[in-house]
Amino acid sequence: HAADAHRTDLMTITRFVLNEQSKHPDSKGDFSILLNNIVLGCKFVCSAVNKAGLAKLIGLAGDTNVQGEEQKKLDVLSNEVFIKALISSGRTCILVSEEDEEATFVSPPLRGKYCVVFDPLDGSSNIDCGVSIGTIFGIYLVNDLEATIDDALQPGKNMLAAGYCMYGSSCMLVLSTGNGVNGFTLDPSLGEFILTHSDIKIPKTGKIYSVNEGNAKNWDGPTAKYIENCKFPKDGSSPKSLRYVGSMVADVHRTLLYGGIFLYPADRKSPNGKLRVLYEVFPMSFLMEQAGGQAFTGKIRALDLVPKKIHERSPIFLGSYEDVEEIKALYAAAK
Ligand code: AHG
Ligand code: MN
Ligand code: MN
Ligand code: MN
Repeated sequence: HAADAHRTDLMTITRFVLNEQSKHPDSKGDFSILLNNIVLGCKFVCSAVNKAGLAKLIGLAGDTNVQGEEQKKLDVLSNEVFIKALISSGRTCILVSEEDEEATFVSPPLRGKYCVVFDPLDGSSNIDCGVSIGTIFGIYLVNDLEATIDDALQPGKNMLAAGYCMYGSSCMLVLSTGNGVNGFTLDPSLGEFILTHSDIKIPKTGKIYSVNEGNAKNWDGPTAKYIENCKFPKDGSSPKSLRYVGSMVADVHRTLLYGGIFLYPADRKSPNGKLRVLYEVFPMSFLMEQAGGQAFTGKIRALDLVPKKIHERSPIFLGSYEDVEEIKALYAAAK
């Protein structure tokens, strides 16, 4: 009757987080409250994304962000929702968002001990054509409530938790609090995220590589060599398949479940690549390591990077352990 038990033993993300909390006797539940506010934000964005076309929520907001990108209406709406949900949790003191040039310092009465870095809407270029998009977040503890910007410029290995929500054919929230990775699917009839993928482990190697081949002209040697090996394997094995959605959340989610490697390399035009360290590279690298994979910047382990600016970028190669080992070897040989 395992299936029945599964159907009736509804493990919601709220129960799951409270179970996790019970493993920390000294915990006062702050983390659970914070996470539940993040979950609320994801539910709101999910419903806004699902009716975006109907509710005139597609198209441009008429402003540009610090990245120099034209902000979409959903970028702005999602950002506002998460900023408000995080502040009202009363458990945060610094917030870093892709959409805000400066970090948000929460006013003292509402301050808590966490710093949250997030990409409220990842894959904005895919909004208007209905292709999967997402939200990415990472959570740090701050040293003391008199927080400074340095409390947000911590290496990824200091993160307590990281996760993403993917707004696709189903709405899935993938989360790690440092003890493995678990996936929760939103049941719209209950308005609850239900545990559907427990203890996700990424395959040791995969048959898919995921990169924007349009940048091939500008890649450096090791990247070009690695992609060449994916297409024309030297050992006579069959070539890998290319899958590239263009939303990091969707490409990483597929990599996590099916195996393979996701790459956003440096190139001559952008020597630090495109993806942002705090709220794209770190959370996804954290999840990959927790799932038995790894994440590499072309120089070092991604989570060892210490950012100097809140919107700093880094090249990133992440996914199946063996696949990332191959590209690490190519960069080591090029030294
Ligand atoms: P965002 O929409 O939050 O700005 O992020 C877009 C990022 C990421 O989602 C994706 O992996 C990458 O941009 C795709 O970039 P290219 O279009 O240059 O391939
Ligand atoms: Mn953007
Ligand atoms: Mn993004
Ligand atoms: Mn974004």
